[in-house]
Amino acid sequence: MTPKPPERRQVVRFAFYKLDSAWRRLSAERQASSKIEFGQTIESFAGRLLLRPYGLVGIRGDCDFLLWQVAENLDSLVALQTALNGTDLGAYLTAPYSYLAMTRRSIYEFPEEPGQPSRLVIRPSEARYLFVYPFIKTRAWYMLPKAERQTMMDEHVRVGRQYPTIRLNTTYSYGLDDQEFIVAFEGDNPAEFLDLVMELRESKASSYTLRDTPTFTCVQMSLWDMLDTLGGAGSVQAVSRRPVRADGYTPVATLADLPPGSSRRVYAGSDAVALFNVNGTVHAIANRCSHARASLSEGTIDAARCAVTCPWHEGVFSLETGQVLGGPPALPVAVYRVKVEGDAILIAPAEAREPTVAPHS
Ligand code: FES
Repeated sequence: MTPKPPERRQVVRFAFYKLDSAWRRLSAERQASSKIEFGQTIESFAGRLLLRPYGLVGIRGDCDFLLWQVAENLDSLVALQTALNGTDLGAYLTAPYSYLAMTRRSIYEFPEEPGQPSRLVIRPSEARYLFVYPFIKTRAWYMLPKAERQTMMDEHVRVGRQYPTIRLNTTYSYGLDDQEFIVAFEGDNPAEFLDLVMELRESKASSYTLRDTPTFTCVQMSLWDMLDTLGGAGSVQAVSRRPVRADGYTPVATLADLPPGSSRRVYAGSDAVALFNVNGTVHAIANRCSHARASLSEGTIDAARCAVTCPWHEGVFSLETGQVLGGPPALPVAVYRVKVEGDAILIAPAEAREPTVAPHS
């Protein structure tokens, strides 16, 4: 019998950082340059690990931002933190909370849920908020027969299904870190999440919770916007490729960032935008799938149809018009105008779209 190939599993770190207020008394030039160095250090890890920035300024007093990190191995997490420690801004940061976990299949049976991708590979959505907490069950839970636990988990799932816009990512920490799980819910409406958690408190399984604090409410934002929540001189202004120009275009990437056949997610203001290079022509559409918020920059390019296939449920969108060409989505996605000047890719909200041929393709 041929042995089954090992399943691909990922390591996950939720690192919450706090900035020393002494940094805000540095000169404006040093604040701006240290933000740019920090941001560019993070960007240099693109392709090596998946990294999502979230802001907590104005929400919690003991941490300012979260870097949600997903990698194929622990070495990548160590390399990222080592690089951040070596930056100017890094000298002013502490990490009051840091949680390590891995993806794995649940031991309970859950019927396939639409919109719920494989538990082994983390695919964050474009939801505005992330609600995170470490979680430990009582030892009495593990003494219960498995069938009894399954019944209680079924009740949990039933309650969760009443809140279809809230998406759950559960990762496992047994033996790797102090907690047993890290639970991370994505959603656009904090009120819905509050209602869900209140309802779950009445479930039978809830009485077997030993600890589920601290709880973090995190706001998804672009890396540069997140850095600007820390105060000091603005990196949005200081990063020369960010400002919106008088003609309405924003520089968002370079052609070197986007070779033919590739795609990437960028931000224009607070909008996540997916860029695609199809045979040398750059296209830009809203990154969030209109069906269930998957990240379209992680989809598959169909050069023949000039389209992208969503990574979750195979919705197909035209890169030229944003219209749905196939699959479950009912609504189109926004398209952006694209301009290439020298090596710079610029985008603007679409009125009439004009795809641009990249000169160096
Ligand atoms: S999220 Fe379902 S097709 Fe994109």
